[in-house]
Amino acid sequence: MTLNHKVFVAAWLTASIFVLAGCDMLDMYDQKRFKTYGRTEFFADKRQSRTLIEGTVARGELRENEHLFAGTVNGKLADTFPFNLKKEDLMRGKERFNIYCAPCHAETGQGNGMIVQRGYRKPPNFHSDVYREKPVGHFFQVISNGFGVMPSYAAQVDVKDRWLIAAYLKALQLSQNVPAKDLSETDRQKLDQPAAPNAAEESEGHK
Ligand code: HEC
Repeated sequence: MTLNHKVFVAAWLTASIFVLAGCDMLDMYDQKRFKTYGRTEFFADKRQSRTLIEGTVARGELRENEHLFAGTVNGKLADTFPFNLKKEDLMRGKERFNIYCAPCHAETGQGNGMIVQRGYRKPPNFHSDVYREKPVGHFFQVISNGFGVMPSYAAQVDVKDRWLIAAYLKALQLSQNVPAKDLSETDRQKLDQPAAPNAAEESEGHK
């Protein structure tokens, strides 16, 4: 090493020590900062945290698709789905329905689920004209917001699954109410055969 080099290295080392120490000396490790519920004299309301600017939307919470998130189209209950449905979607709807709804509404949708048998208020039977005529957006809203004594299922069932449950509910209704003319020839013939002994279960209407 030449003298020049030595001077250079010494200078460099000294400089780095100052730079490293600098962080601490300038209080950068423990900077002054505001805390969520802290107090300050700086703002008129004495609060360190600022209220959100009106209209602020949290990331991922911009619910501008009215059909999907509110179940309405131009302010009216939707009678269509906000996305296309495949068979797997109905199967998932069935699974979700049986988990979240059947305890009260029963797998058949007649409203005599186990919780009801143990004393909870009996929900209406879905197999009545009143409920057959309800647009699918209504079912979506009931799941999202609750209805009467029935609680909201928004926290347990996400938006997409709510639509799938609503779709399955419509399928369940149809399963008990297919017009004979929509059946295949063989199925229609089966209709004319005498019913099996326990097939005729009475269904109770909602009062
Ligand atoms: C803890 C029992 C319970 C569960 C679970 C439950 N419901 Fe209900 N539901 C009720 C009761 C009770 C009513 C009647 C509420 C009333 O009239 O006060 C009702 C009413 C309804 C109605 C009729 C609303 C109207 O227009 O009259 C629909 C549709 C419905 N529930 C759908 C669902 C779906 C879909 C699920 C599953 C995500 C579900 N419910 C889960 C108890 C339940």
